[in-house]
Amino acid sequence: MQVLVTGATGHTGRHVVAGLRAAGVDTRVHVRDPLKAPEGVDVVRGDISAPAEAAAGVDAVYLLWPFFSAGGIEQAVEPFRGKKIVYLSAMSAEDGGVWSDVEAAVRKVTDDWTFLRVTGLATNALAWAPQVEAGVVRAAYGQAKRSVVHERDVADMAVKALTEDHAKQIYLVTGPESVAQAEQVRLIGEALGKPVMWEEQPPEEAKAQLSVHLGAEFAASAVDYWASLVEDPEPVSLDVARVTGHPARPFGEWAREHFS
Ligand SMILES: NC(=O)c1ccc[n+]([C@@H]2O[C@H](COP(=O)([O-])OP(=O)(O)OC[C@H]3O[C@@H](n4cnc5c(N)ncnc54)[C@H](OP(=O)(O)O)[C@@H]3O)[C@@H](O)[C@H]2O)c1
Repeated sequence: MQVLVTGATGHTGRHVVAGLRAAGVDTRVHVRDPLKAPEGVDVVRGDISAPAEAAAGVDAVYLLWPFFSAGGIEQAVEPFRGKKIVYLSAMSAEDGGVWSDVEAAVRKVTDDWTFLRVTGLATNALAWAPQVEAGVVRAAYGQAKRSVVHERDVADMAVKALTEDHAKQIYLVTGPESVAQAEQVRLIGEALGKPVMWEEQPPEEAKAQLSVHLGAEFAASAVDYWASLVEDPEPVSLDVARVTGHPARPFGEWAREHFS
């Protein structure tokens, strides 16, 4: 059996590769820059929009679609027809949007799909790093409670799904608790051994700032979503524990690994 990992240089993909290698699984990666590829694996250079060469001969695929639009997805997944596909999706796939469109395209090419729907990745907090350095993180909705998940838990789920039978399963992949964004920042400070403060940013300012990278529509929906999480925290799922056999890693552990 050979498994193809897309996004292998990314936060989850690199751990998926490590997990597959540790399990003795023949692994291939599809990367834009072979110099950034993990060691000890078969490497195929290319863009995720055209994975035919990388897909040839593999049995299973860890699929990332790192775009805010699903344009081109049908052609991109065609080379994976009939193969096992484990797709890193989002809880918001329930409400339509890019993740829902990618899931639909995946269902059209295979019956052996697994969707890992994450609420949010803990690695999003790395965007705060420059402000953490300065001791104050200025962002919107510090009391938004998020069940962000450690990237290694996502990877552990992916390795299970890629190497066992999890066909037609949709897993909600979360951390073990919902943690307010201001508390996440406090935990990062604790990991660093210095206080890091939260400074509340007006929502309209946050939207304008985020729209530079995310586009206006996506930035606005993200900030409005955080607003909703002040009263209504993100759900906590036991799927990581059920599938991997270990509890999801808490945010404090993630902070110690990345900030101390
Ligand atoms: N962040 C969240 O909270 C969240 C929530 C729900 C779902 N997700 C999903 O998780 C995915 C991963 O998110 P992340 O921010 O942690 O990213 P990431 O996995 O750390 O990085 C993106 C990966 O995609 C690769 N990539 C980017 N454009 C590519 C292209 N055109 N062709 C081939 N590979 C390409 C990058 O490779 P290079 O090294 O070449 O750049 C990198 O390996 C997102 O795309 C999203 O769909 C994220």
